[in-house]
Amino acid sequence: MSGIFISFEGPDGAGKTTALNRIAPALDALTSSEVVVSREPGGSPIAEEIRKIILDIHGTEMDDRTEALLYAAARRQHLVDVILPTLEANKILLSDRFVDSSIAYQGGGREIGTREVKDINDFAIDGHLPDLTIYFDITPEVGLARIRSDHQEAMDRLEKASLDFHKRVHDTYLQLVKDNPQRIVSINADQAPELVVKDAVDAIIKRFPDVFNGGK
Ligand code: TYD
Repeated sequence: MSGIFISFEGPDGAGKTTALNRIAPALDALTSSEVVVSREPGGSPIAEEIRKIILDIHGTEMDDRTEALLYAAARRQHLVDVILPTLEANKILLSDRFVDSSIAYQGGGREIGTREVKDINDFAIDGHLPDLTIYFDITPEVGLARIRSDHQEAMDRLEKASLDFHKRVHDTYLQLVKDNPQRIVSINADQAPELVVKDAVDAIIKRFPDVFNGGK
């Protein structure tokens, strides 16, 4: 396996997806390798079907552990269908969310426990952790205010959860950053979008200087 696997993480409203739309072409211009963008939950046909069930606004009776298992199941399918074949082809895979999302949202946010959620995810990912994770840090207050002003009507089931839930998600992310200093780089997401993109791209170049060395 010689591709590069980079995941992007952060609380709701961190602007991660928007930033990723600009980070991917910036990286692509700096390397001769192909850059592939994917996302979770989803990223492949079966995983996208699971995504619909998890994020359904009507699914209010979903059990917390069912939710955690569905995320892990979608992740397994995404890994097998997209991530591993991409890495095997020596490409660069950028994933909008991966296992840290489950630890933060289900482990911390839903209070299932980080250990328990890590355990079911270890089964799903079978040792395939990202080479690098970029974490977009934003406080829950700022993140939620951004979402509410952006798309009041289109909020999904998780975005509608309480401020306390989002505070626990944020705290768990900070703990993950602390516990994984070699893998996770934290970026300040509460600054101008172009600076967020620049910080992320700089962190990636710094980690893989031989890959992003001027490119095509
Ligand atoms: P999405 O619309 O993709 O939002 P975002 O742009 O914030 O990534 O919705 C994904 C939601 O699912 C988001 O609220 C985070 C949540 N989530 C989990 O709770 N656990 C997980 O393992 C993953 C991958 C996502």
